[in-house]
Amino acid sequence: MADAGYMKLSTEDGDIAVLTLDDPRGSANVLSRAVLEELEKNLNELEKRQGVAGLVIRSGKPGVFIVGADIREFVANIDAPKAQIEEMCNTGRKLFQRLSKLPFPTVTAIVGQCVGGGAELALWCDRRVMSSDSKAAYGFPEVKLGLLPGWGGTVRAPRVLGLSNAIELVTGGESIDAHAAKSMGLISDLVPSEQLLASAIKVIRAEQKSGQWKKDRETWNGPIDMSDTELGFLGATASAMIQGATGGKYPAPQAALELMMEAAGADADTAGAAEAKAMAQLFGSPINRSLLNIFFLTDRNKKDTGIDRKDVKAGEIKSVAVIGAGIMGQGIVAATLKRRLPVMLADAVPAALSKGVSQVLSEVSFDKTKRGPDAKKAVEFAGLLNAATVDAELAPADLVIEAIVENPEVKKQFYARIEPLLKDDAILASNTSTIPITKLAEGLKRPDKFCGIHFFNPVRKMPLVEVIRGAKTSDETVATAVAYAKNIGKSPIVVNDGPGFLVNRLLLPYMNEALELISDGAEVKAIEKAAKEFGMPMGPITLYDVVGLDTAFYAGRVMYEAFPDRTVASPILAAMVKAGRLGQKSGAGFFAYKDSKGRGTPDPAAEAIVKTYVRKEQKFTPEQITHRLFLPMVLEATRILEAKVVRDVRDVDLGLIFGVGFPPYKGGLLHWADTLGAAKIVELLKPFESLGERAKPTPMLLEMAKTGQKFYDM
Ligand code: NAI
Repeated sequence: MADAGYMKLSTEDGDIAVLTLDDPRGSANVLSRAVLEELEKNLNELEKRQGVAGLVIRSGKPGVFIVGADIREFVANIDAPKAQIEEMCNTGRKLFQRLSKLPFPTVTAIVGQCVGGGAELALWCDRRVMSSDSKAAYGFPEVKLGLLPGWGGTVRAPRVLGLSNAIELVTGGESIDAHAAKSMGLISDLVPSEQLLASAIKVIRAEQKSGQWKKDRETWNGPIDMSDTELGFLGATASAMIQGATGGKYPAPQAALELMMEAAGADADTAGAAEAKAMAQLFGSPINRSLLNIFFLTDRNKKDTGIDRKDVKAGEIKSVAVIGAGIMGQGIVAATLKRRLPVMLADAVPAALSKGVSQVLSEVSFDKTKRGPDAKKAVEFAGLLNAATVDAELAPADLVIEAIVENPEVKKQFYARIEPLLKDDAILASNTSTIPITKLAEGLKRPDKFCGIHFFNPVRKMPLVEVIRGAKTSDETVATAVAYAKNIGKSPIVVNDGPGFLVNRLLLPYMNEALELISDGAEVKAIEKAAKEFGMPMGPITLYDVVGLDTAFYAGRVMYEAFPDRTVASPILAAMVKAGRLGQKSGAGFFAYKDSKGRGTPDPAAEAIVKTYVRKEQKFTPEQITHRLFLPMVLEATRILEAKVVRDVRDVDLGLIFGVGFPPYKGGLLHWADTLGAAKIVELLKPFESLGERAKPTPMLLEMAKTGQKFYDM
């Protein structure tokens, strides 16, 4: 048999065939076309073999089984006709199905990750065993790409695991751990890795004795045993949950649900054919393309070191000091502690420091299953966190992050005090959201060791970190800051210094335009609705309340000073701040709030303030509002690219999705702009000529409109 080397067939214990998957191209097994072809050859061989008692499929990679299908190969077929996609699914499924037809029991031995196509392959086997020591993750993440399992996952999961479990796994897209896998009935045995093969063989011997595997094969080939009433109830509940989770914006989970419900009464072959048809409908859709784009954005981000030079290595951050125990300082400390890095926390105000320490400890010791603090964790983390009362205690840290009041003079005074105390190779960083890093570095002895590490609020939830490169920041400092951010689980992008850096600079035209729309006669409700319909997690007016109107006012001033030609200093914001309406934190902003976390309700007092600044009575369609909110953002992105604020267009999209929740199903701002095309955007901007510079097509956009170039081709 020709052997391309992706897997090896051997014999154990006299009569047990063992197929070991060990893709030589990387650290994990990926189901590429070539791998499937080799699997086919091995199945041909196994079908002919005599005297085999059972088959074990296992991984030759430590800690990982199969991470899924080869997504790059998938994407190469993105424009293929539906019939071809359907055919590809049918072929893959029928190949896996042969595992359930071999004349002996088949068992998958799962270590670590087993997702997507890997999860399907495992389910086509008669039984599964799992390792208890590797970090097992079993699941169907296809819906996260706007797809559904296409190699029989929706056929096999409901029949082997039960319809309710299958719905949860397939429509939710989240992986489960070994214990959940056991209680779901997915696995027969949970053992340490070194006992996995022996356990699989034991399962085969037991099955040979009981013959249960043959009975199960028969059952699983037929329809699902469930009454119409049960089926109807399950379908309605699941549909409501999906609607709640997706807001109706993501069609794949609902399509997967409908498919499994409709095929419940059919045999496995009919259900399989229906699955291939449903998959072909989703494949290549605009949402599938957007979500694939996010997959690639994230993948690229994981591999990016933040610098282009190969000869510079990131330093290792083994201890961190944070000054400023407020909202941001607490978030940064908690994220760092969770990676078991020791942290020193300081604050000028003793009460703020003790409050900060206790808030951090309650966050890091929170146990999801207990829904409360875990005493063991609290003790462990308390040992890693120290409250510093004098600067000298911060000095030994490899990285000092400053998160004090947004005032350049106060920040600089702190740097002047701390810099002489630090180790020569220590990095000093600011979490400033608006002050230029180059300006803050003035007066430093080692400006090359200084950068911005800009987290987003709330740190616990927002994956983005902007690493800001000042004029004198060294490559090594940037690489080290990027590596630290990744180590604590964030997705860092490197941004060159400038007003608003990347995300706030893009957000400002959008926020600005929302207030201008109000002044032109649009209703707050209509603006909020249009932004949410577009897919934003909240409307821009609510966002003002969440950010804080004083903060927004200050950031707006910074932008106004930098870009007076296109920033409008709206009197609405100033009036709200003057009236003490600072947003959610003060209980009142554009809306009224019962507490600092609750939802806002309409407030006549705010409406009265806003009303005084309405100067026109223009009527707007939802589409006009959407265009006025989002097209100026695209224009700002072209200026950002022109000024080389980021190293790659993809950073713009990743920044907005991970920093402010720009709708993932649109694939990012520039991905969305590419679906419209530059010429169309120029056309859509025409009605806004009277708005002046802020809605005027930029030279880059005009050039792109002329040549037909796309942002993603840059
Ligand atoms: P905060 O007001 O919640 O906390 C600041 C803390 O710093 C207070 O506890 C205060 O006592 C302390 N502090 C002030 N001056 C000090 C000094 N000279 N020495 C030691 N401690 C001092 O502020 P927040 O929101 O945490 O912001 C901190 C920094 O993070 C600012 O630069 C802000 O622009 C930036 N930032 C804020 C975001 C937000 O959404 N709040 C988002 C991203 C960045």
